[in-house]
Amino acid sequence: MRSSLFLCLAAWMATSAGFAAHAAPLLDALRGATPITGTTAPARLGNAVNDDQRLPRSYTQQPPVIPHRIDGYQVDRNFNKCLDCHARERTSLSQAVPVSATHHVDRSGKVLDHISTRRYFCKQCHVAQENVPPLVRNDYRAEPANANAAPIRP
Ligand code: HEC
Ligand code: HEC
Repeated sequence: MRSSLFLCLAAWMATSAGFAAHAAPLLDALRGATPITGTTAPARLGNAVNDDQRLPRSYTQQPPVIPHRIDGYQVDRNFNKCLDCHARERTSLSQAVPVSATHHVDRSGKVLDHISTRRYFCKQCHVAQENVPPLVRNDYRAEPANANAAPIRP
């Protein structure tokens, strides 16, 4: 029993190796040729876009991208630097865009007087931008129905 199992396994390995030989080699644009067991060198920190120009959204529910640098902005359990400027009660002073009302709605639909925990970690959804060529080709076009529609920053 054990030897027939072994034979089956050996046959399966041989055929899958055979298939692999014909398939195009898989190259991950982020990892390059580094094997999956290896560790890649971390990408160099770039020079994030900081022109303060709010960018159009490509579809209605897109979280707007961040038009300013955010390095060093601490966001943890006790402190949220983003809310220092973006909290609705802070924006008259900071002149930042207030978080939209959706950010105050909890998971059962209740409207809170403070940011919902669902929206606390801003960088889950909002990202700063780098002026770099895309790593993979992308033909995505903004939704024409969206009043804000415009091509994504090249
Ligand atoms: C010092 C104040 C300040 C802090 C801190 C700050 N922002 Fe901003 N943010 C602004 C201002 C002002 C704008 C309006 C555009 C501009 O002037 O850059 C803005 C714009 C944005 C926008 C674009 C909104 C839109 O509708 O286009 C997003 C998203 C954003 N910030 C997210 C963040 C996140 C996430 C953090 C924390 C990592 C953060 N901001 C920290 C002041 C701040
Ligand atoms: C779960 C995803 C998510 C998280 C987390 C999140 N946002 Fe948003 N944000 C969105 C989406 C989606 C929109 C656009 C639709 C909307 O307003 O709900 C948005 C809109 C915004 C806007 C534009 C408001 C406007 O009226 O144009 C600002 C500013 C903003 N978010 C800031 C923040 C800040 C600051 C945090 C952290 C405290 C945060 N967001 C956390 C998804 C998120």
